[in-house]
Amino acid sequence: MSVYGNYSNKLFNDLWNDIAPGFYNYGRISPDVDVDTIPDLKKANEDMIEYIISNQGIGPDSRILDLGCGKGMYTVGIAKRTGCHFVGTDINPKYIEECEELAKTHGVSHQGEFLISHMTGPAAEIKDQTYTHIMVLGAMYYAHGNLKKFLDNLVSCCVKDTKIFIWDFVRNVEWELCKEANRHLKRPHPILTKDNVLDLFKKTGLDLVDFEDATKFIIPGYKIMTRECKKRDPNMEVLTYPLVGEAFMEGLLAYVYYCLKIKS
Ligand SMILES: C[S@@+](CC[C@H](N)C(=O)[O-])C[C@H]1O[C@@H](n2cnc3c(N)ncnc32)[C@H](O)[C@@H]1O
Repeated sequence: MSVYGNYSNKLFNDLWNDIAPGFYNYGRISPDVDVDTIPDLKKANEDMIEYIISNQGIGPDSRILDLGCGKGMYTVGIAKRTGCHFVGTDINPKYIEECEELAKTHGVSHQGEFLISHMTGPAAEIKDQTYTHIMVLGAMYYAHGNLKKFLDNLVSCCVKDTKIFIWDFVRNVEWELCKEANRHLKRPHPILTKDNVLDLFKKTGLDLVDFEDATKFIIPGYKIMTRECKKRDPNMEVLTYPLVGEAFMEGLLAYVYYCLKIKS
């Protein structure tokens, strides 16, 4: 297994390229929908882009930093819709190349840049810029083993009014009970609880402005993902996402939104 986990596996890449090109996320789907009528996760992620723009008030004068941007469709989608300036960062150089291509295809290259960088130690060129918004979408859980360091670095990228939006996993139960989900997640450290994370926000000088348990909006996405994994890999040899889906459905894990700002 490489440091990028399944990200170099063909079955994995083909799956995401089919069902949500440019994304590695579940977006936002109303809990009441009939998932059999939804072919993929494209619209769910587009709807999440719209949600972030309106919820965070991103506009043409905004300057966004997207930490752990993956293949960049959230960054590019927000930049394209709003005209904002952007910096997207990821640890995986291949993704950064893909992000740059995506930005060209969507005509937003002149609005920003994509940089290879580790979330827990962003490069000086990232810290030197000023951001109105910082987003971490489905990526902070990679840093749960070292969350204080990650948050200290995040704070060092903020100015007084920077709005922070984090979309992340937490566990609701003992880590031991998440063993099956971790067969997919492959985390070497426990996923933290909401209380652990809130405590670390406080210790880092971050004020929680808003919180939402958004698990219900990703459960339909996991049902779609489960269907698509079973089509492509019936024995779940590589595509083990259904294990995480079950943990969300059983309430072992939650997918949450945190809106934060630095203490004034
Ligand atoms: C589940 S994907 C989410 C990608 C994107 N934010 C999205 O929502 O489509 C998580 C991303 O975090 C990146 N990542 C993992 N550990 C990282 C680290 N230490 N520093 C920077 N990026 C990291 C991975 O390469 C991957 O692209």
